[in-house]
Amino acid sequence: MSILKVSRMGHPVLREKAKPIDRGDIKNPLVQKLIDDMMETMVEYHGVGLAAPQVHEGVRLFVASLETGDDSSETIALINPEITPVGNEIVEDWEGCLSIPDIRGQVPRANEIRVRALDRKGERLELRAKGFSARVIQHETDHLDGVLFFDRMRTLETLTYLDEYSRYWTKRGDDEDE
Ligand code: NI
Repeated sequence: MSILKVSRMGHPVLREKAKPIDRGDIKNPLVQKLIDDMMETMVEYHGVGLAAPQVHEGVRLFVASLETGDDSSETIALINPEITPVGNEIVEDWEGCLSIPDIRGQVPRANEIRVRALDRKGERLELRAKGFSARVIQHETDHLDGVLFFDRMRTLETLTYLDEYSRYWTKRGDDEDE
């Protein structure tokens, strides 16, 4: 496995619409290696999610570490995800992004979503997610459409450097990026 270079805000790949992956190509060793490398890269940089355009690959794939309910988490790959909000509750909370280092801002997101996607075996997958996991999935799916979290903010007033975030805003002590 390899640690990949992460694209930063300003690189055009982050603003392009990524292309779907053919179901028959998912078992291709190149796609499998990309998934493994993205998982390793996400862990290396303390991320909770990483989308393919963030490693300069314009395909509809992301990896994410999702809460499983019992205070643990599971890292999965989602391919060609489609999101549907469940209900209409919107929650505003902090986000960061490995492509926008050392910055945090408050972003409104649907509190609960349903996701349809393919897994890394090419099998259809449907899951529901709430709260933080739902936020991560929405953030990563945005990357596949060339959308960054700045674009979703209601106001830029909450934009904060990481040092100031830790000093004035954090309660959980977390400093994870998406
Ligand atoms: Ni991001």
